[in-house]
Amino acid sequence: MKGYHDIAGDGGSGILEQVAQQRARIADGLAGVRHLVAVGSGKGGVGKSTLTFHLASALRVRGLRVAILDADFNGPSQARIAGIREALFVPGSHKVALPRTGNGIGVFSMGSLIPEREALAFESTAHGESHTWRATREFALLGEILGAFEWGTLDVLMFDLPPGAERTVQYADFLGSRTSFVLVTVPSEVSRGVVARSVAALSKGPNRVLGYVENMSGYYCRDCDAIKPLFVSPDSASGLEIPRLGTVPFDPELARRCDQGIPFTELAETPVGRALERVAQQLMDSLESTTESSR
Ligand SMILES: Nc1ncnc2c1ncn2[C@@H]1O[C@H](COP(=O)(O)OP(=O)(O)OP(=O)(O)O)[C@@H](O)[C@H]1O
Ligand SMILES: [Mg+2]
Repeated sequence: MKGYHDIAGDGGSGILEQVAQQRARIADGLAGVRHLVAVGSGKGGVGKSTLTFHLASALRVRGLRVAILDADFNGPSQARIAGIREALFVPGSHKVALPRTGNGIGVFSMGSLIPEREALAFESTAHGESHTWRATREFALLGEILGAFEWGTLDVLMFDLPPGAERTVQYADFLGSRTSFVLVTVPSEVSRGVVARSVAALSKGPNRVLGYVENMSGYYCRDCDAIKPLFVSPDSASGLEIPRLGTVPFDPELARRCDQGIPFTELAETPVGRALERVAQQLMDSLESTTESSR
């Protein structure tokens, strides 16, 4: 068997050229996108997908051109939340057009391609090998999607990331320094602890972490039209050393609409809608300040 030191260059596989070509194709496909924003956390189930879609909607209401790439390939949520589970992918002459929501958000989600009762399987020649190669294949797939779809001219492309602090950093590495991060937590020490790990890991790389959103920062009681505490010890001093972009309460109606993929058109009239509006504003201010300072 050959060791690494026996292999000259890429061992004749042409892998370096292939990676360079894919990078160039991705950069070309994203050239018309002004801001790339990854919504991550590290912690699972804290509302990354919910906030990704509803922040995108809040930006869309402002007239911005927005798309979402659901990068959680094996746990895709966007197809259901955005109501595009039945969407058709239409190949154009050059690239594939993105399915669009009624309010004009382009969404790629594996949930439009694979039924919910099926898991995404990466085929492999040797039995049991697919697990070993899963991360590599996941990122190869992400590269294919970025290169194959028509992202066009966008103000913001949002990535809905899967859970896992380690994976959050892998996405940062893959997506490159153009991508800024928004981290989502809930007001519990368990969640903040994991998010703090993601902050620490991301701080070693070049990606800007715009801040965090505290989701489920209270419970919106519709009957009493008041926000009640949801967690036992909500603590406004989070200990996360990044800006707080805002807080969003838990609204059971929001969860219901997400489950059914029904647009929450009257969202703006609710506390959760107003909270999302404020976070969207903070997000844009933060993104624009990044752009200004990098000019
Ligand atoms: N502010 C909120 N109000 C009401 N329901 C919410 C809110 N935020 C999230 N939810 C609900 O909580 C559940 C988990 O949310 P979501 O799927 O967005 O989390 P996630 O962080 O993306 O999870 P995963 O780590 O699995 O990707 C969903 O059922 C969603 O509808
Ligand atoms: Mg999710």
